[in-house]
Amino acid sequence: MDDASDAASSKVAQTEQLAAGMPFNPTKAGEHGFANGAMPQAGVTVEPASRLPTGSTLSEANGSAKTGSVAPDGVNATIDSLDRVRVDSAGQTLTTNQGVKIADNQNSLKYGVRGPALLEDFILREKITHFDHERIPERIVHARGSGAHGYFECYDAATDLTMAAPFREAGKLTPVFVRFSTVQGERGSKDTARDVRGFAVKFYTDEGNWDLVGNNIPVFFIQDAMKFPDLVHAVKPEPHHQMPQAASAHDTFWDFVSLMPESTHMLMWVMSDRAIPRSYATMQGFGVHSFRMVNEQGSSVFVKFHWTPKAGTHSLVWDEAVKISGADPDYHRRDLYERIESGAYPEYELGVQVFTEEQAEEFSFDILDATKIVPEELIPIRPLGRMVLNRNPDNFFSETEQVAFCTAHIVPGLDFSNDPLLAGRIHSYVDTQISRLGGPNFHEIPINAPLAPVHNNQRDGMHRQAIPRGKVAYEPNSLAGGCPFQAGAAHGFVSVAASISSKEAQGKVRAKPEKFADHYTQATLFFESQTPVEQDHIANAFRFELSKVTVPAIRERTVAMLRNASEALAAKVAKGLGMDTLPDPLPKAMPDVPTPEVLKSPALSLLHRPGDGSLAGRKVAILVAPGVEGEFVLAAQAALLKQGAVARIVGPRIGPMATAAGDALDADASMENEPGFLFDALILADGALAIAALAQDGHTMEFIKDQFRHCKPILAVGESRQLLMKAGLPISMDKSLAQGGTGLIVAEAGAGDGAMDAFIEAMARHRHFGREMDPPLL
Ligand code: HEM
Repeated sequence: MDDASDAASSKVAQTEQLAAGMPFNPTKAGEHGFANGAMPQAGVTVEPASRLPTGSTLSEANGSAKTGSVAPDGVNATIDSLDRVRVDSAGQTLTTNQGVKIADNQNSLKYGVRGPALLEDFILREKITHFDHERIPERIVHARGSGAHGYFECYDAATDLTMAAPFREAGKLTPVFVRFSTVQGERGSKDTARDVRGFAVKFYTDEGNWDLVGNNIPVFFIQDAMKFPDLVHAVKPEPHHQMPQAASAHDTFWDFVSLMPESTHMLMWVMSDRAIPRSYATMQGFGVHSFRMVNEQGSSVFVKFHWTPKAGTHSLVWDEAVKISGADPDYHRRDLYERIESGAYPEYELGVQVFTEEQAEEFSFDILDATKIVPEELIPIRPLGRMVLNRNPDNFFSETEQVAFCTAHIVPGLDFSNDPLLAGRIHSYVDTQISRLGGPNFHEIPINAPLAPVHNNQRDGMHRQAIPRGKVAYEPNSLAGGCPFQAGAAHGFVSVAASISSKEAQGKVRAKPEKFADHYTQATLFFESQTPVEQDHIANAFRFELSKVTVPAIRERTVAMLRNASEALAAKVAKGLGMDTLPDPLPKAMPDVPTPEVLKSPALSLLHRPGDGSLAGRKVAILVAPGVEGEFVLAAQAALLKQGAVARIVGPRIGPMATAAGDALDADASMENEPGFLFDALILADGALAIAALAQDGHTMEFIKDQFRHCKPILAVGESRQLLMKAGLPISMDKSLAQGGTGLIVAEAGAGDGAMDAFIEAMARHRHFGREMDPPLL
């Protein structure tokens, strides 16, 4: 007998021994009854005598450069860190996908230099074929997005609330990947559309991936997943002419929402400046639905997740957003990328509102209704940790485009509520990703693979990466010693045995809970909690959007709906639309609503969270032309850099110029390639020749007017105030440092540090809405 047949007979014998080690399925009896269901048992395993009986083949030890060696015990190498798939071509020659070195990458193969191209050109054909298939379907919603890597750091153990891995101990770090997005537009659409922003975070926890797939607005348009396709069909470009792109200002959206009064609360948020954030780093994030947290003892509470940006909540104004969308459709993508590359890492605090089922029963609203918030004045936010985004993806497609978030991805210590919108989402994401990412194995795409071990009996399918060892792909089994075996309650995920509390027993039904019918109380709460400036912006946004609606009946229906939330708002919008008389309010689904606990919630105002006052990541333009006071320009640039801001030297043209002192100064941007509205603030330097040149350039006036109109800080030094006057700014030229807190600082030549300090202070306050007018003065 040779070695191979020895091994074969050993394998037969050991296989028999392994199978005999499990004469019956000992966990079977424990699969029955409610109590067993709540505490599932761990699976049973039998140790094989050697690795022989569990291997796929007898030849597995015959290694090569390709096969490598035998799979180490219990290892799934497809989940190793992303290093395993990183590619760096430095110093390498060009090859085909089969590793054949390519001698000539310039010409196709022809019969003679002027002859016909040949079909046998496998190099050309491979290249073109791969190119032909470079695109994958874009996401059905949230197609436009940008991503970043980072980490979540736990402040203190939150084990009283949850056993979820990221919250187990103080200082614990969990890697994350985040994707921010707009909802309506296609993949190449502009970043600054008026829209909800997606805020999706994948936590690569020790116990599997947890995706918190949220938005920057804590409520949603609809209450039941049944209406999601209708909502999306209504807001996406209209099917007959595929317009408008990335915009809700059109007939079908307002037709739908004005027939769905539960959307009123969400509409308030979407018409507010929340829907045009300044940066992904300056917006909040919310889990939206009520979730559960479960601790080791198995007791659970409800939670609502909140992300709060360290830089504060700051937004654009509408006129600015419209202009930016033309000059830089990648505005938010660029901002995120540049912040991270420059070390101004976006940071957010994660907190939860915690409440029990009993508390929830007493609330005036239903916590399963995604159109309702839990006011912070009712249940405060408990901080749990912070997230820092500190690494840009190496490759947009491989990471940001192929990442697959899913609300179904939760880990032990977390669970769902019965929110009917959430239930639909739990199904939807995997379902859509199967077609978007080309089959059921997209969890193996490196960005999606967890760090936690993955072992199961799923097999085959398109693009399978893993090469499982052995012949067993089912459970229970005895031929692989029972492996992989079920973890049981001690280590595995167990759903909370939530019972449905209702006054009378209910059966299958298609209906909403009663309190879902209160469509307006929280819309009123939101509007009443805004500052007057924010209320004006909301009214103006309704006016703009509805002015794009071509059907008067839809405009009237919307105003009729608004009357139930705020008579003042409805009247203002109606006036803005030229309606002489107000339509009757829409009939209410619930005429007598429970008394709300909170009537005003300052926390709902964007201005409530100004942030840490840092200028990190902000952009300032210093306008220059030949003859400018160069010393001041460089000193101002250095002072801003020290604050973490980026100061660009913007001239009529890019390139070198001579300063008043005859030194060389380089303009790194031009007023043409970086118009004024792309900057957070403006500095006009002194220098007679420069001022004369800038005064002759129409771009200068647009630059100044936009900065003024968008309420951003402006510093004018010395004679450059003449430019402000030429642009028509309504300022008195009294040469005082700051003009009544309006963010306009007109300083004497040589005012030096004092002027810069006042300017930096004005920048820390971002916008100076005191000078805003409707219609705008300039
Ligand atoms: C029943 C209601 C909903 C359904 C059926 C639904 C469905 C979807 C689908 C199919 C995608 C594309 C996923 C992909 O291709 O990878 C998506 C993306 C997304 N959804 Fe929803 N959605 C719903 C409601 C919501 C709500 C309420 C939120 C916010 C809490 C939300 C947040 C997101 C985010 C952030 C993304 C983008 C994820 C990414 O960056 O890849 N969705 N949704």
